[in-house]
Amino acid sequence: MKQFALLLSGLSFLFFACTPTGQRASIASPGGINEIDFFLSPEGTPMYRVLHNGQVVVDTSSLGFEFRDQPQLGSGLELMETKTATLDETWEMPWGEQREVRNHYNELQVSLKEKAAPGRSITLRFKAYDDGIGFRYEFPKWDGVDSLVIMDEHTRFQLTEDHTAFWIPGDWDIYEHLYNTTRVSEIDALSKRDHEDLAATYIPENAVNTPVTLRSDSGLHLAFHEADLTDYAGMTLKVDPENLSFTSELVGSDRTGYKVKRALPFHTPWRTIQIADRAGDLIESRLTENLNEPNKIGDVSWFTPMKYVGIWWEMHLGVSTWDMEATQDMNTFATLGKEQTSSKHGATTENTKRYIDFAAANGFGGVLVEGWNTGWDHWIGFEDREGVFDFITPYADYDLEEITRYAREKGVEMIMHHETSAAPRTYEQQLDTAYGLMRHYGMHSVKSGYVGKIIPKGEYHHGQWMVNHYRKALEKAAEYQVAVNAHEPIKATGLRRTFPNEIAREGLRGQEFNAWATDGGNPPEHLPIVAFTRMLSGPIDFTPGVFEMSLPSKPDNQINTTLAQQLALYVVIYGPIQMACDLPENYQGQPAFQFIRDVGVDWEQSKVLHGEVGDFLSIAREERGTGNWFVGGITDENAREVTVDFSFLEVGVSYSARIYKDAEDAHYRDNPTDISIESAQIDNTSSLTLALAPGGGYAISLIRE
Ligand code: NOJ
Ligand code: CA
Repeated sequence: MKQFALLLSGLSFLFFACTPTGQRASIASPGGINEIDFFLSPEGTPMYRVLHNGQVVVDTSSLGFEFRDQPQLGSGLELMETKTATLDETWEMPWGEQREVRNHYNELQVSLKEKAAPGRSITLRFKAYDDGIGFRYEFPKWDGVDSLVIMDEHTRFQLTEDHTAFWIPGDWDIYEHLYNTTRVSEIDALSKRDHEDLAATYIPENAVNTPVTLRSDSGLHLAFHEADLTDYAGMTLKVDPENLSFTSELVGSDRTGYKVKRALPFHTPWRTIQIADRAGDLIESRLTENLNEPNKIGDVSWFTPMKYVGIWWEMHLGVSTWDMEATQDMNTFATLGKEQTSSKHGATTENTKRYIDFAAANGFGGVLVEGWNTGWDHWIGFEDREGVFDFITPYADYDLEEITRYAREKGVEMIMHHETSAAPRTYEQQLDTAYGLMRHYGMHSVKSGYVGKIIPKGEYHHGQWMVNHYRKALEKAAEYQVAVNAHEPIKATGLRRTFPNEIAREGLRGQEFNAWATDGGNPPEHLPIVAFTRMLSGPIDFTPGVFEMSLPSKPDNQINTTLAQQLALYVVIYGPIQMACDLPENYQGQPAFQFIRDVGVDWEQSKVLHGEVGDFLSIAREERGTGNWFVGGITDENAREVTVDFSFLEVGVSYSARIYKDAEDAHYRDNPTDISIESAQIDNTSSLTLALAPGGGYAISLIRE
């Protein structure tokens, strides 16, 4: 397979063939594994279904739209023409889980027209891949219509059984929810409303966010999502628990009263379904990226994947503060009275130099500093956040000039931080100066944040207006050779293919919740679900690497994993930037820290060795440029044994391995840091059986000899 892909490298061919019109048409994936059937109902409603190895996996489902000032579109249509096409190309990721990606599909284009006035036409484009399917709507020019106001999109996904679903609610503002595991018929998103730890949350109905992953009783996996979300509203999926179906529910705006407004012609994002018999194949699938356009921003060699440290965890632990005069309590988001304020500012010149020294001594590429700029004294809890944050003015105790000089001298790059406090208009006004400042100081990546309710009121993080804001920031950043790691973002939809400067994002309940969540933090099953849901959409800035698991400054909180699992996360959870988030002093004298120093961050290839959604997972990744391999495995609250078969290693090469695993009595709850570290010689005939503690894991570095 690899050889075949290589043969095709750089070569792409797309050809079309016309088929005679009828009322139905179908297309199968190149290997014949997945098939899409399209047909029109007697009422002229477009319908499709999806088959996997000859079995229906999405049953007859209708498609349609509702508009403002236009009749709805979804019946009375006739089929004008169908065309088919094939593409087989291999493209290269500048950084990623793998270097080469094969994009191989068969396509069916269906042109429809209303029989009666107003006689509007629409095209549906379906793509069948061996790892799933995608389709989108294409609106051509319509006579006398300049722009279209979409009130609702009605894309249905009719399920065939009451599958087990791994879901978070269809929140219009945030993805930072714990995953739920229920039957589709038992999904109750409304019960997840108003979580007290979320600075913005809005769940209008019983819908789920995507990617949402389903498992059938016979072991088939379906993951529903979207690709190339451009100038459109994010899609949630409304659940019909009785009929076992999902219907697209676009995120709206109370300000405009509609979901999407677009000038004609335009096309929607792809609606996608990844289909896999083996859970791990969902993770290996690159369907979402393949359904995006090639790189539009050219050379991106100015960014290098890296591990980083930073002034961050100490604020979440309450040890220091973002603002210079501490005026906010991070646990309650309350503004403190004057008598309670103190000066525990984290982002001081001196403290930053301490992190730079630590990064330089341990081979970290970057140092992130939050709380360096003015505005933090008017952050969470304030309604009037417009015009507050300033992205170029440092606090008086932060000498930006001196810090960048010092970092350069030490061979470390500073990572910029822009907390917009969900006031995107203020941010947009400053984009040029903010990124210009970064260019001046040679900074090539920014972590941005959008905590709180969006200003203007009535807009939501996942609506069309914000989708366009996130894109604007990404495009503007590219002009300044800046890569973006957005927190409280719009979800990833594979755009990293087109804009590789979209390096990572949050978009999930990250490590930070372990420091202050009022519900006990992330349970051990969180990441074994995340890897098969959120991670299917793209790279994650999870910020692993906590070594001081009991969080002395937060007596009510703790990390619900073992130390060995914290190490495993550098391999299991993919991102081209990986933080070692703990305080530098917590790594001192810790032999396990060697793994974080050694582990790669950019991969030639990745293999999911085994895994089940919500239970456990092992991934092996080969580092680009060195040929070293790293393996990571995690489990949920259950202890288990896993056997790693090293047959993926290069034949005839010996690797010197270090194995970091849970000690015999390790347990995430009361003995999390007990770790055992062993050395071994490994080659492709070796295998190892490892015992994982409850909430545990293992990490292995394999250095080529
Ligand atoms: C939320 C982000 O997820 C977190 O990482 C950051 O520290 C705060 N916002 C402050 O910007
Ligand atoms: Ca967050």
